[in-house]
Amino acid sequence: MKNWFQFLWLTSLAFRSYAVPRTTSLTKSYIITNYTVNLVKTVHTILLTCNAKDSQIIARQLIYWNHFVKIYDITNNFTLKAISEQDRSHAKTAIILNCECKTTQNLIFEASQFRYFNKTYQWLLWDFHNNNCFSHLQQSGLNYLGPNAQIVFLKYEEPHYLLWWDVHSKGRHLKANLEMHLVAKGTYINETLQFVSKNDINDIRGIRYRGDFEGLKLRGATVIDQDNITDNDQIEQILSRSSKDPGVSAFTKYHYELVNILRHRLNFTVEFRNARGWAGHLDNSSYRLGFLGIMQRNEADIGASAAYPRLNRFAEFDSLHQGWKFHTAFLFLYTPDLHAQSKKGNFLAPFEKHVWLGSLIILNMVGLVWIVEEHVKSYLSKITTSNVEIFKRIGGRFIIPLNIFAAICQQDPVPSGASSRVITLTSFLFSLVMYNYYTSSVVGGLLSTTDKGPSTVDEVISSPLRLSFEDIGYYKVKFRENKAPSIVKLLNKKVLPPRDPHDLPVYTNLESAIPYLKKGGYAFHCEEVDAYPELAKILTDTEICDLRAVSGLLGSALMDWIVHKNSQYTEIFRHIVTQAQEVGLIQRLLRQRRPKKPPCQNLYTVYPVNLSGTLSAFVLLAGSIIISSKILLLEIALKRYSNRLRD
Ligand SMILES: *[C@@H]1O[C@H](CO)[C@@H](O)[C@H](O)[C@H]1NC(C)=O
Ligand SMILES: *[C@@H]1O[C@H](CO)[C@@H](O)[C@H](O)[C@H]1NC(C)=O
Ligand SMILES: *[C@@H]1O[C@H](CO)[C@@H](O)[C@H](O)[C@H]1NC(C)=O
Ligand SMILES: *[C@@H]1O[C@H](CO)[C@@H](O)[C@H](O)[C@H]1NC(C)=O
Ligand SMILES: *[C@@H]1O[C@H](CO)[C@@H](O)[C@H](O)[C@H]1NC(C)=O
Ligand SMILES: *[C@@H]1O[C@H](CO)[C@@H](O)[C@H](O)[C@H]1NC(C)=O
Ligand SMILES: *[C@@H]1O[C@H](CO)[C@@H](O)[C@H](O)[C@H]1NC(C)=O
Repeated sequence: MKNWFQFLWLTSLAFRSYAVPRTTSLTKSYIITNYTVNLVKTVHTILLTCNAKDSQIIARQLIYWNHFVKIYDITNNFTLKAISEQDRSHAKTAIILNCECKTTQNLIFEASQFRYFNKTYQWLLWDFHNNNCFSHLQQSGLNYLGPNAQIVFLKYEEPHYLLWWDVHSKGRHLKANLEMHLVAKGTYINETLQFVSKNDINDIRGIRYRGDFEGLKLRGATVIDQDNITDNDQIEQILSRSSKDPGVSAFTKYHYELVNILRHRLNFTVEFRNARGWAGHLDNSSYRLGFLGIMQRNEADIGASAAYPRLNRFAEFDSLHQGWKFHTAFLFLYTPDLHAQSKKGNFLAPFEKHVWLGSLIILNMVGLVWIVEEHVKSYLSKITTSNVEIFKRIGGRFIIPLNIFAAICQQDPVPSGASSRVITLTSFLFSLVMYNYYTSSVVGGLLSTTDKGPSTVDEVISSPLRLSFEDIGYYKVKFRENKAPSIVKLLNKKVLPPRDPHDLPVYTNLESAIPYLKKGGYAFHCEEVDAYPELAKILTDTEICDLRAVSGLLGSALMDWIVHKNSQYTEIFRHIVTQAQEVGLIQRLLRQRRPKKPPCQNLYTVYPVNLSGTLSAFVLLAGSIIISSKILLLEIALKRYSNRLRD
């Protein structure tokens, strides 16, 4: 068991002798190991030291307590980046830094710069000789020291007190103060450590001590696609309205409500900044534009909007919450002329072409079998009965196709002989099965009202519908950056061709689109939840049954509420959102903000079958009439010819 615990000595450790009395070293090390073992309860420890003797004693004691220890000498060009992933556990690792070292100030600065003051690392800064460690923590430019910092500052105070302070801030980059809370106070007398007072360190680092931002102003970002929106008051006014605003997506308002939950709970204020769009890149560089750019460059601490959960975004953003399903669709009223475009009304539709063809082949084979069977029978009977009978049978052979046809139509031919009866029965069974399937599909199709009209984006693009889009950033970015064939087709057919100035423009807002939607012949693409309440107000009952939503142009996904990667606020914000979820606030918000499609009350609408649907049946009929009349003419001609020959 013991050799599981490695003792990693850094070979390059430079031994510098300090004139520290032995007892003091032991004392210190006892106090320090007591911190790691008892208070923060880690098993991985990284010792940053410039004093070989101290570090030896500390390491030995930690190893005695079954700790992994890695020692780094920080006197020579040491950088925190040199700490390798293997030296830390994935849960938490203690970093013990001796404030006596000259490079401490640099290291603390580096820790902020590379974001080491986070939940992964438990820092212990020990300062027994007033080495100004605390003022190092306050140096300017130290931006990353927020509510997720886990720093304990250990100080010796005359005559014999030891004070453990927990240090954090609500955001040094926002000029918030460093806050200190006493974790423990102890004395070290007569070789024993005794605590005068001791608090639970998890409590001190918890929401009770870190949950009041005292009105600190965080930097916010949002997306409102309107001109001249720059002022914070304007932005708040628009986002807090519960009704639809042009250029504001429904999920932006939802996430604004989440920001409100956070700021009421944590007592901060927000200064919003507006972006016109979400994503996009500057030309073809990797410089992100819009909301995502602001969040990625850490120019905002909180965002009142959200982003698609794309794979390449996980590396750059932390996700706080996923709750809103972004769902857009083409909305239009079904009109009978849309029917022709889809195959659904067609009487041949219940079976695919292959099934029709396969059935035809099978029936032909049945006929063939039947003919062979008759041949065999007549051959057998030729040996026994008279020639008259044989001729009758041969005449009967021409009847066979007719018999099969009759069987399919479920009329009974009366064949003689057991084998031909078996064939007839099988044909009956076959046709019974096919019939049932066919009729039920046709009836089902006629009765269902929902799947009439175009039902995919491709069908919508090919339909005569005129398409419009909500005037909001993501379409323009999508149309510019996406070169998929379906998008190109959409652009060429519906978006780019110039329109009559009196017609509905390609990019417009919901308000102006609704009268056109009601008129029919227009499809509007927007977030469904925005349109449903408006449509429910103006559409009649039958029109609501005709309302169709075809999604698929933009992907539908749970939106990610993002903050900058490794943000100081990730954990605390997540905590509050999870709490809100547990008490049902989020569900309530979602219910309020996601109205359902107005239900179709009028269940008994029967749509008349139109010409295109019956066309195949008519064509079949016309084809057979033509063929039969041709045969009739041929027969008449043959008769005349043979008569003339006889004459
Ligand atoms: C420390 O880094 C500087 C600059 O990179 C270099 O000039 C110097 O030699 C390094 N010192 C040691 C001891 O490695
Ligand atoms: C803490 O910071 C380190 C170094 O930047 C990083 O590797 C680690 O993932 C961070 N941990 C958290 C929980 O953000
Ligand atoms: C420390 O030990 C000495 C002698 O053993 C004793 O006189 C003294 O009272 C002790 N001090 C405390 C604070 O216990
Ligand atoms: C830490 O100090 C307390 C109080 O003196 C003691 O009970 C405990 O055993 C010590 N723990 C370690 C690991 O030294
Ligand atoms: C919120 O912050 C303000 C400003 O510092 C403070 O006066 C107030 O007491 C705080 N509210 C709560 C509920 O903590
Ligand atoms: C926006 O501001 C500019 C200049 O301040 C002005 O010319 C323009 O009319 C404004 N646009 C709107 C929609 O208010
Ligand atoms: C961007 O595209 C242009 C041509 O469109 C090309 O000349 C340029 O090198 C590209 N730049 C980058 C950074 O890829």
